[in-house]
This record gives sequence, structure tokens and C-alpha cells, in this order.
Amino acid sequence: MPRTIDWDGSTGAGGVVLVDQTALPELRTTTIGDVDALVDAIRRLVVRGAPALGVAGALGVALAARTLHGAALDAACDRLAAARPTAVNLAVGVERARAALSGGPEAALAAALALRDEDIAACHAIGDRGADLLTALCGDRPLRLHTHCNAGALACVEWGTALGVVRSLHGRGRVAHVVADETRPLLQGARITALELAAEGIDHHVVVDGAGPSLIARGLVDAVVVGADRVAANGDVANKIGTYPLALAAARAGIPFVVAAPESTVDPATPDGAHIEIEERAADEVTAHAPAWNPAFDVTPADLVTAVVTERRVWRP
Ligand code: MRU
Repeated sequence: MPRTIDWDGSTGAGGVVLVDQTALPELRTTTIGDVDALVDAIRRLVVRGAPALGVAGALGVALAARTLHGAALDAACDRLAAARPTAVNLAVGVERARAALSGGPEAALAAALALRDEDIAACHAIGDRGADLLTALCGDRPLRLHTHCNAGALACVEWGTALGVVRSLHGRGRVAHVVADETRPLLQGARITALELAAEGIDHHVVVDGAGPSLIARGLVDAVVVGADRVAANGDVANKIGTYPLALAAARAGIPFVVAAPESTVDPATPDGAHIEIEERAADEVTAHAPAWNPAFDVTPADLVTAVVTERRVWRP
């Protein structure tokens, strides 16, 4: 599997190379050479997942800086940052590269590539820390884990956050089974998480989203581990719609509900979940035949979160 997102410096103009996530499980890569095409790719979820969006935002600034200047460059940065609202990493990535623009386009690119490399290191650290935590919480035995959406290599540059924890546990021989919610309406679980688990040789099943809480209630899951798009200052967690029911079920069953995310997903400027903008997507992603409402994320209140695991800490909000 190539990296989810990277910079192609082989031509003078440069470009952002993406695994096209709309095509998965078919593996197709695409190279994007202008900033508005990248904004469109972000909106269409060609690139998706909070950490990958952060790197996309930063590389997008580097791309824009090659051809645009002054107010036009500033406006392009703003369009990138606003392409999707819920994952804070996108705006964080844009601002990181924008802050380097005074050093010229190459400085912006260096900042973006540093963010890419930091994301890889953070995911490995999260994986190991999360594996330690789950072993401490559940015992030193192979675990039955439940995840939602895709917080894997394909949501980051590589390795993943929640699936990084699964990968680290698998490397220690401590994964018995993974339940992956299919994740309606765009099927990130069925198309992407299942692909990653199969590639690792990890035993798994995809279930319809509505089945998740009842599997937990039946005692078939030892712990839930998910990623996050934004963690508010009080520990409320925004993640793909359908995460909150898993947290409720986990609390009721008395099993851990662990959130794996880089520090860049923790947003001190957002006091709580009520202040997180929930992306509303097109109704036709849900159905072409009836009026539909398509909120793409939900907020899990901090009191249902056992721990947020980042590359630096285990935070129990
Ligand atoms: O709409 P998506 O596919 O971008 O939503 C992705 C998620 O909700 C992920 O769980 C989250 O971004 C964490 S990715 C490590």
C-alpha cells in the first residue's frame, strides 16, 4: 500500500499524490497539481481522515505558493482550511504551512513535509501507547475490539490511530478479532478498514452500523477503539456519525471506550462538543428517493470516554 498522501517532487511544478479513497477497495492513485483541485478532492473525500486532511492542508499551501502570491495565496489558504469543517487538523495543517510562507514556497513545503513525518511518528507512538493502555485495562490476552469508520493508515499518512493501536496489539499477538462497523453512508468501514485488516491478516467482520451496540451488549466485545476529528478542551469527542451509540453501549456494558488521536486533533480553542461544527453532507449520499438529512459526525460526551490516547499522553477527561 503506498502512503495515503505524499509530495511528488519529480517535476518542477510538484504535486500532491493521493490514494483515491472514493475508488477503494480498488487501489488508484492520483496526482493533484493545483489548489482548487485539491479543495475539490478534500470535499469529495478522495483524501479523508483527520490526520491525512492536516497533511493535505499543509501540502496544499505549498502547492498554492508555487503559483500564487499575496491576496490570491491568502484566499487559497482560506479555501483549503474551509474545505471541510469538523476535523480540526485541516485548518491546523494549513496554518502550519502558512506560517512558513514568509520564507518562500520551499519553506512552506519543508513545513508540510515535517508535518507529514511527524504524523507518521505520532501514529506509531499512539499505537504503542494505546496497546499498553488496552492491555492494562483488559488484561494480557487476545482482545475482541470494535471500531468505527476508518482511523487507519488510509486516514493518516501511514499506520493509523485507532487501527495503529490494533496494529500494535496485533504485533504483540493480542488481537483475537475486530468488529468494523460498515459506516453508512460512504462505507469507510466496509471499504477501507476491512481492506486494511485483511492486508494485516487480522481476523475481522464487518457489521451494519445498527448492530454494533447490541454486539457490545451481548458481551462479544472487550473494548471500543476509535479515532477522532476534533477533541474539545473538555474531552468531548467528534468522530464519524455512529460513534456515540458505541460509547453509550460501552458505558452500559462497562467496557473501555478509547479514543486514539494525535495532539493536533485536540483543540483547546473549542471549549466543548456543542461548539464543534458538524459537517452536513449532501442528501444524495444517503438516498436518491426521499428527503434525507446527512450529518457526517457526532459528539461523544467526555464522561463516556475512558481515555484519549495521543502520542504524548493518556488523557482521562
Ligand atoms: O468523513 P471522514 O471519512 O473523513 O471521517 C473520518 C473519521 O471520522 C475518522 O474516524 C477520523 O477522522 C479519525 S482518522 C484517524
